[in-house]
Amino acid sequence: MKVVGGSSSTSLAREIAGHLSVQPVDVAFERHKGGFPDGEGYVRLLSEVEGEPVVLVQSTHPDSKIVELFLLQDAIREAGASAVTCVIPYFGYGRQDKAFLPGEPVSARALAERIQVGCDGVLTMGIHNRDILGFFDIPARDVDGMKAVGRYLEDRGVDLVLAPDANASPHADVVAKVLGTPWEVLEKERIDSHTVRIAPIQLDVRGKVVAVVDDIISTGGTIATAASELKAQGARKVLAVCLHGIFAGSALDRLKACDEVVSTNTIPSEVSKVSVAPEFAEALRS
Ligand code: R5P
Repeated sequence: MKVVGGSSSTSLAREIAGHLSVQPVDVAFERHKGGFPDGEGYVRLLSEVEGEPVVLVQSTHPDSKIVELFLLQDAIREAGASAVTCVIPYFGYGRQDKAFLPGEPVSARALAERIQVGCDGVLTMGIHNRDILGFFDIPARDVDGMKAVGRYLEDRGVDLVLAPDANASPHADVVAKVLGTPWEVLEKERIDSHTVRIAPIQLDVRGKVVAVVDDIISTGGTIATAASELKAQGARKVLAVCLHGIFAGSALDRLKACDEVVSTNTIPSEVSKVSVAPEFAEALRS
């Protein structure tokens, strides 16, 4: 087996290879220094994969990484690999899992249908809606990363885990089980891409450490709004916790009211404190 990492997941791929005790395949992402003048992408595998099953690790965010995923799939096929499993740590476009308005695409389906053309199986992590796995006609599994996040929080003295909306409830449940704490769910209404409203709810948070757990932090609006409400109600500390830290624009600034921001390395960032390599390695072994 060989492991290839796309440029969105290079170090995670190396870690997965290490856990599996297999060689990572280095990839060149430029033909000439500075890349192509027109901005098109480039990939080249720097060692052989002929006759080998290959694990290709690449999050589909931002958009340029989707094209790069297709190029890597093709390079691996061209190099004669025997099979390809795509590990997609963060499956971008998962939130457009249906046409919300007439004329819109089901973007998650569009991605799934195209990704499966270049591989034999798919692993995702904390996919926004597990129904998306049904868009694949090849074996597709979602791996749980929240237990690892829960273990990371074990020494933080968390008293309460909060899901900012119903969608985040299963994640809060997993983290709370690891920590042996109660969890609650808030009621969120999205006003626009940057603004959410959290329905007023009285929580017993005075003097407590609260971990607000979501699958994704994008603009930070959801957790920042929850955090200011919790602080107003007397919470001692608020931790902002997610699997997938997109941190669009000034999201990390918006989260300054939080005492700590914790994300995994499905999207690498300065707060990727939890590696999910062991989880993917274990899923690839089974
Ligand atoms: C929405 O359904 C997701 O689970 C997250 O709550 C959302 O993506 C967070 O976005 P933001 O950080 O922009 O509020």
